[in-house]
Amino acid sequence: MSDQTKSPALEAETTSRIAPSFDKGLVHTIAAESAMSFIDGERGVLEYVGISIDELARGSTFEECVFLLWNKRLPTASELEIFQERIRDEYDLPDPMWEMIRHIPKYATPMSALRTLGSALGMFDPEADFSSPEHAERKAIHLLARAPAIVAGFDRHRKGLPFLRPDPRMSIVRSFLYMLKGEKPGKLTSHALDVVFILHAEHGLNASTFASMVTISTLSDMYSALATAIGTLKGPLHGGANMGVLKMLQDIGSIDRVEPYILDKLQRKEKVMGFGHRVYKAHDPRATYLREFAHDLAEETGNMDLYELTVKIEEVMEREVGHRGIHPNVDFYSAITFISLGIEVDFFTPIFAMSRIAGWAGHCIEQLSDNKLMRPRARYTGPHNVPYVPLDQR
Ligand code: SDX
Repeated sequence: MSDQTKSPALEAETTSRIAPSFDKGLVHTIAAESAMSFIDGERGVLEYVGISIDELARGSTFEECVFLLWNKRLPTASELEIFQERIRDEYDLPDPMWEMIRHIPKYATPMSALRTLGSALGMFDPEADFSSPEHAERKAIHLLARAPAIVAGFDRHRKGLPFLRPDPRMSIVRSFLYMLKGEKPGKLTSHALDVVFILHAEHGLNASTFASMVTISTLSDMYSALATAIGTLKGPLHGGANMGVLKMLQDIGSIDRVEPYILDKLQRKEKVMGFGHRVYKAHDPRATYLREFAHDLAEETGNMDLYELTVKIEEVMEREVGHRGIHPNVDFYSAITFISLGIEVDFFTPIFAMSRIAGWAGHCIEQLSDNKLMRPRARYTGPHNVPYVPLDQR
């Protein structure tokens, strides 16, 4: 700056109570307080309201975990019954939305269908713009309950199949599988997908959750906040990684090609999908659980060759970069799990999104209960005191 004295604005900025510091990617920034989940990246620990993810995966259900995350305690049997009823009462879409699905181009992706129609749900809710925490939970249930019909309905549409309406006698996951496949899902598949939903439900201030909180912090509506989150999760560095893992498995093709493929990627400093994490420098406990789960599923469904390919990739990556804290994350073993469940690859991320509505909405409800508009600063790197040159003199 030509003028040596600092401008009052700059003076205020650099001498404000807490001097702003630049933290690229917000790596070292704590942007909120939350009682929903605890992540210890050094020890590879994940807890939902203090309960380990491993215990929840082994013994809980997705709906019970949603109640836990939103109410910060486990439900009694009758509370769970009532909560499940509230969700099941909202499964079906308004008729005009089924009609809207018919007009989506068949080449669109399920994630873009979910982002668009999830947002459209707000237009059918006369209380969409009410922003109290109670209204927020009602809208959260609205979206959590209807997302499966949107995703499954779009798939039926793109395949030229008749819509199947949700079945209120079934859990979220079973009703989704029924709408998708047109038959009552088996116990193994339903349980497996319910576990996947539990593992993906909540994970602190990941990019998509933080994005939804920024939106809700302006007192915008829950539908806008969740549309922001869906769009953010779509990225391959975040929720889109699981699709990248499957593409990698298909590109590699056979066990003997794993080593050269991975070494070549690392050599070219390309990111190997399904590995690394901003917080976990030890193993992601969800990946650890999914690895065991994926093995049993792959064995049951004749996908052991793909499973062994996955394990070999982990072996090479652990040897090459494990010492740098780069380990499998939740997306790595979810790919082989989805394949074993007969889930198509462009459904991987929408399934992640349907489950993560629990975490997104929970953090938005927390934000609303003690709100402060999110508005960080940018460090200005441009010039000052530049004269305006009229157009005819440039
Ligand atoms: C999810 O935040 C969450 O909680 C997310 C999530 C959730 O539940 O919401 O857990 C879900 O998004 C899991 C992550 C899925 N994404 C991927 O699998 C994509 C591949 N992973 C990387 O893009 C990366 O690991 C990130 C994005 C996940 C984390 O990146 P960071 O913290 O910004 O770290 P970085 O990219 O700066 O990497 C640090 C170093 C770099 O090497 P140097 O430049 O220091 O030499 O580690 C290397 C990176 O090149 N590295 C990798 C790698 N991940 C990091 N090298 C090869 N392959 C990788 N996967």
